[in-house]
Amino acid sequence: MHADGTLVVHQMRPGTGLPLVLLHGFPLDTRMWRDVVDLIPGQTPVYGVDLPGLGESPTGDDVAQTLGLPAEPSLDVSADGVAAALALAGVERAVVAGLSMGGYVVLALLERHPDLVAGAGLVDTKAGADPEEARANRLRVAEQVLREEKVDAVLGMRTSTLGRTNRVTRPDLADRIERWIRDQGPAGIAWSQRAMAARPDRTEVLGAYAGPVAVVVGDEDELSPLEVARQMSETAQDSRLTVVPRAGHMTAIEAPEPVASALARLVAVSDTA
Ligand code: MLT
Repeated sequence: MHADGTLVVHQMRPGTGLPLVLLHGFPLDTRMWRDVVDLIPGQTPVYGVDLPGLGESPTGDDVAQTLGLPAEPSLDVSADGVAAALALAGVERAVVAGLSMGGYVVLALLERHPDLVAGAGLVDTKAGADPEEARANRLRVAEQVLREEKVDAVLGMRTSTLGRTNRVTRPDLADRIERWIRDQGPAGIAWSQRAMAARPDRTEVLGAYAGPVAVVVGDEDELSPLEVARQMSETAQDSRLTVVPRAGHMTAIEAPEPVASALARLVAVSDTA
C-alpha cells in the first residue's frame, strides 16, 4: 500500500448501505474517530482514511507522484488521494465527514470530486483560508519539526485543541492526544502544515453544494469558533448546525455522542436525498 503512494483506508466497521467516511484532524490519524464509530447506530459501514504522511499513510510526495500531481504540498493531493484510495476500496459514493484539517479536505472533495460526496460533515472546521500570520506560523512550524526531527513544536496541541472545561476536568484526553501526536513523523506534520497554509478559501464551494451538510462545533472551540460554524451553516444550502456544549476543537474525542448522532442523521438524510 505505501510503496505505490495510495492512502491507507481503514474499514472501521462493516455494514450495509451508504458508507460513512471519516477524515481526521491534524496532527492525528484515524484512531481519533474510534469513540464516535462505536456510537453510530444501525448498519452504516464506516471507513477512515489516514491523510498523507500521517497514521499509516505514505508521504504527500509519494501520493502526489502516484497521482501525477504537482509536488508542492496541497490539500488537493489529500482530496485526490482520498478519492483514489476509496475507489480502490470499492467506495464510489459516501457521506464524508472531516474534523478540522479533515474538514478542509472534505471541502476540497466537494470542489474536485463532488460526485463522491452524498453528504458532507464539517466538524470543528472552517471554509476560509488562513490569515497571513497563521500561514507564516504554519511554515515556521514545518521548518522547526524538520530541523529538530521531532514533533515537539506541535505538542502544545494536546491541550490547545481541548475546550477549557476538559483541559481541567479530563487530563486523560490530553494524554491520549499526546500519545497520538507522538506517533506521527515530522515529515508528515511539516507536509500537512504546508498543505494547510496553501489552501484557498472554499466558502463558495460550500455554498454551491446542493447536498446535505452537517456542521458540528464545540461551544468552547477556540480554533474554529462557534461564529465561524454558524456562518458555514448559513452558507450551505441544506445544513444543520449542532453545537456541542462544554467541548472544544476535538468534539469527536471530547463528546463523541452528539457527534455520532449528528453524523448518523446526516447519513440518514443523505440516503434519501
Ligand atoms: C486540526 O485540528 O486539524 C488543526 O487544528 C487544523 C489547523 O491547524 O488548522
